[in-house]
Amino acid sequence: MNSVFKQGLFNGKTAIITGGGTGIGLRIAREMAYLGATVILASRKLANLEKGVALITGEGGKAYAVECNIRDEESVKNCIKKTLELTGKIDYLVNNGGGQFPSPVEMINRKGWNAVIDTNLTGTFFMSQEVFNKQFINTGGSIVNIIANVGRGFPMMAHTGAARAGVENMTKTMASEWGKYGVRVNCVAPGTINSSGLDSYAAPYKEFILEFAKNNQAYRLGTEAEISAPVIFLLSPAAAFISGITLIADAAESLFSPVMPPSDNNVNPPFEG
Ligand SMILES: NC(=O)c1ccc[n+]([C@@H]2O[C@H](COP(=O)([O-])OP(=O)(O)OC[C@H]3O[C@@H](n4cnc5c(N)ncnc54)[C@H](OP(=O)(O)O)[C@@H]3O)[C@@H](O)[C@H]2O)c1
Repeated sequence: MNSVFKQGLFNGKTAIITGGGTGIGLRIAREMAYLGATVILASRKLANLEKGVALITGEGGKAYAVECNIRDEESVKNCIKKTLELTGKIDYLVNNGGGQFPSPVEMINRKGWNAVIDTNLTGTFFMSQEVFNKQFINTGGSIVNIIANVGRGFPMMAHTGAARAGVENMTKTMASEWGKYGVRVNCVAPGTINSSGLDSYAAPYKEFILEFAKNNQAYRLGTEAEISAPVIFLLSPAAAFISGITLIADAAESLFSPVMPPSDNNVNPPFEG
């Protein structure tokens, strides 16, 4: 593990990272632990969480696994209760856990629609509200919501596009309502990231996503570290004057225009942390 941020930045701080056992969430958790935070990895699959905890502990960090289904209000309440029993306080929340499946709009049924909205929109709401009511209302804190690049719609994933746009708007409301409690709330919108999460898609769709490397000005997919770094910046005191924004980390994919197509210029090496 490595970081461009100062070691000790998060000494004495506690962070919950949903979906912290895999992919982008695990990278964020590892880097935060490296910077001194005690991290809580929260999601449904205990085996993945325990692997993450073992990795972080092996790197000298402090981490706990707490099972949590963010779609289920009771499970969220238990997760925050258990976290407070383990750590005594919460300073940061990273709402990274999420999921979706590819489908054209006309083929999404109610069950699939509800599942994606419940996870990505309602899950972020439940987690943020519970952390606020049990901790941040008294001490302040910082939240970063991982969304997606949905400003131009989200073809083949209308459900997650709608959910993430909802989270972006909810972020602005929370930033406004909770500012007086010392709470900052921001989003990071990743472009297409070569995370382990891509393996959850069937081969043809994964191939389709890998082609997105040609849609940004770095002419490659992003790395997990390239999402962890902006999340850590927004959580940290360096962003004390920043709330209610979306930081887009996508090498200008969201500005992609046929008039100025990306070229394979080989001058944008990846940052691996
Ligand atoms: N990779 C990209 O290109 C990209 C681009 C834009 C946005 N994102 C978003 O970034 C986040 C991380 O993605 P990733 O690429 O790292 O994929 P990933 O490894 O599949 O991460 C998704 C995580 O969310 C957790 N999760 C899913 N449903 C949950 C639930 N109901 N309750 C609690 N946790 C749940 C999963 O853990 P369990 O299965 O153990 O619950 C998993 O650890 C996701 O929200 C993803 O949609 C990714």
